[in-house]
Amino acid sequence: MHADIVVLPGDGIGPEVTAAAVAVLREIARVHGHRFDLHEHAIGGTAIDACGEPLPATTLAACRAADAVLLGAVGGPKWSDPNAKVRPEQGLLTLRKGLGLYANLRPVQPHAATLGAAPIKPHLLAGVDLVVVRELTGGIYFGDKTRDGDGASDLCAYSVAEIERVVRRACTLARSRRRHVTSVDKANVLETSRLWRDVATRVAREEFPDVVLEHQLVDSMAMHLLAKPRAFDVVVTENMFGDILTDEASMLAGSMGLLPSASLGEGRAGLYEPIHGSAPDIAGRGIANPVGAILSAALLLRHSLGLEEEAVRVERAASDALDAGVFTADLSPYRAATTAEMTAAVIDRLVAPCAVVDL
Ligand code: NAD
Ligand code: IPM
Ligand code: MN
Repeated sequence: MHADIVVLPGDGIGPEVTAAAVAVLREIARVHGHRFDLHEHAIGGTAIDACGEPLPATTLAACRAADAVLLGAVGGPKWSDPNAKVRPEQGLLTLRKGLGLYANLRPVQPHAATLGAAPIKPHLLAGVDLVVVRELTGGIYFGDKTRDGDGASDLCAYSVAEIERVVRRACTLARSRRRHVTSVDKANVLETSRLWRDVATRVAREEFPDVVLEHQLVDSMAMHLLAKPRAFDVVVTENMFGDILTDEASMLAGSMGLLPSASLGEGRAGLYEPIHGSAPDIAGRGIANPVGAILSAALLLRHSLGLEEEAVRVERAASDALDAGVFTADLSPYRAATTAEMTAAVIDRLVAPCAVVDL
């Protein structure tokens, strides 16, 4: 098949991990006879430095025209002055909103080989397989923001339609899994959460009678996620709760560097990025874990290009590399494979060794 893919390396370790994901995509194209046209564009701090804006119009236009977008990360200390007029993160938020990507899927499947890297007891982690569906284009991220001499405010707003579509997405996903959805809110305090709970209850009852829906308050959810992570299948929640809970969930897998994500809207085109940030503390040293970015490329193959076999091939190759004990420093300070070594270990395993048959 032929696909146009926009690559947005961004800042910090963004270019390091996207280079790894791109190398994997190129190898998949070679092995399976596809043509992937990869076009690189600027976003984030790098774009601010180049042209004063975190999301140049050329970048947004290219993303709109593409079959899929692969992103590294944006942000960093250089652009973090609280009084700065433009910030790298605005570029990413405008891109998500501009492409209508309201559902951010963040799968969490701790790998057997990396259980020891997690700060949680291994017996709690075996068999954990959950997906957080994070609402991505509403809530406090996008409400009016004000600042004056006396204070500041961020408005948190949700419409019924915004909640319905993301809950539908979560329930539909649950049908292909264990048919269990946990909706997370703060309905004991927030009006938006009370609306969220009402809408989620109605959508599940009327449209998904075969799916079990449970509600959980976000503070106790933060505890249950660590205490009994196997209890969860699909978790659906609003924008900021989903942001925070998924960084916490990365500790079930063992590292921020392992978790991928897919941001989807109504169409097939999507945005794929690891859940981690630009990691300024390790940027430029060639030691970032590329697995979250590589697994994001697998999600791109699955959700935007419909290439399930190729997606599974990438996921298996990443698993096999970890099984073989190839760990970056975030997983093991003793083994400390570089980004390039980890990437090569995955690429080496993309093509399963052929059986040699003597006739
Ligand atoms: P971070 O995710 O960048 O880093 C948190 C910790 O995890 C750091 O110790 C880092 O070294 C480690 N880490 C993250 N990814 C790793 C990887 N692939 N391999 C090994 N270790 C990894 O979070 P932060 O430090 O709070 O944020 C830094 C900047 O990134 C901020 O400007 C923030 O806004 C931005 N950010 C961007 C995105 C994005 O672009 N999607 C996501 C989160 C944060
Ligand atoms: C993420 C990041 C972003 C978010 C920031 C960089 C805007 O933390 O993708 O998880 O909060 O959504
Ligand atoms: Mn985040």
